Amino acid sequence: PPLDADMPPGVAPGVGELTETAYAKVNLALHVRERRADGYHALESLFVFAQDGDVLTGRIADGLSLSIEGPFAAGLEAGEGNLVMKAARAMLDHVGQGRGAALRLVKNLPVASGIGGGSADAAAALRLLDRLWDARVPQPELERIALSLGSDVPACLASTAQMVRGRGEVLERADLAGLPGTPMLLVNPGVGVSTAQVFADWDQVDRGVLNASSLDGVIADGRNDLEPAAVGIAPVIADVLADLRQCAGVRLARMSGSGATCFALFGTQAEAQAAAAALKRRRDGWWVMETRIRAA
Ligand code: C5P
Repeated sequence: PPLDADMPPGVAPGVGELTETAYAKVNLALHVRERRADGYHALESLFVFAQDGDVLTGRIADGLSLSIEGPFAAGLEAGEGNLVMKAARAMLDHVGQGRGAALRLVKNLPVASGIGGGSADAAAALRLLDRLWDARVPQPELERIALSLGSDVPACLASTAQMVRGRGEVLERADLAGLPGTPMLLVNPGVGVSTAQVFADWDQVDRGVLNASSLDGVIADGRNDLEPAAVGIAPVIADVLADLRQCAGVRLARMSGSGATCFALFGTQAEAQAAAAALKRRRDGWWVMETRIRAA
């Protein structure tokens, strides 16, 4: 039998290799409540994950190494500054030195784009190395290591729908009816925005609690409070949202995280497909991914 039953289609790991998908993260709603004294912001956010993402493979080796390939590999350094390498170093610190891995990342998601690419990659590295090294790090420890790598990494570790609070470390499973399998488009207009800059430009107005008791409630009453700040930095985000809202069958179009990637939810896959085809025709240079919300 294959070593990795969860192997995504189209990826053939070699002998002794393990694979983890770094699922794209989407904030169905993101309410910013308060700027904290430590510089982070207190959030309330419904995180869901796409069934597609970056793909990380790894095998036992001497020392640690990382290579990056795929559509968004350019411009991403594979050295010690990469979050995958930081995750691997953090795991080594925890399980003891003397272990090694050769890691290979297929970068399918745009960088610095609000869908958690780097965070999802780091979380995938933690999951992969825990298995590869048979480390069996307890979940609370893994979550602590994850948070040390970034606010979104604990949620990405789970990669199932989560209501997220605090700066990102307070997780509560969100089994909302209607989420799993929902057809979804992710669209990025080819600009990267700095998360820190978007938070710094937030207007500091608390617009209230996120009630995530139903998907309809999240659609009707949810917001992404970072949208105005992100549009101020990258006005093309407003064009993405306007285009998505014009698509037939769209149930919700909103920005994810600090942008610039926006998402749209559709009632049927045919509607999502038609919308993707139309956007690709009309908007040369925009990245469009047709996917679904991953089952919890
Ligand atoms: O935690 P992470 O390194 O991913 O966060 C990147 C930046 O985003 C932080 O330096 C901070 O400026 C901002 N941020 C924030 N509040 C959060 C998460 C991130 O202000 N809850």
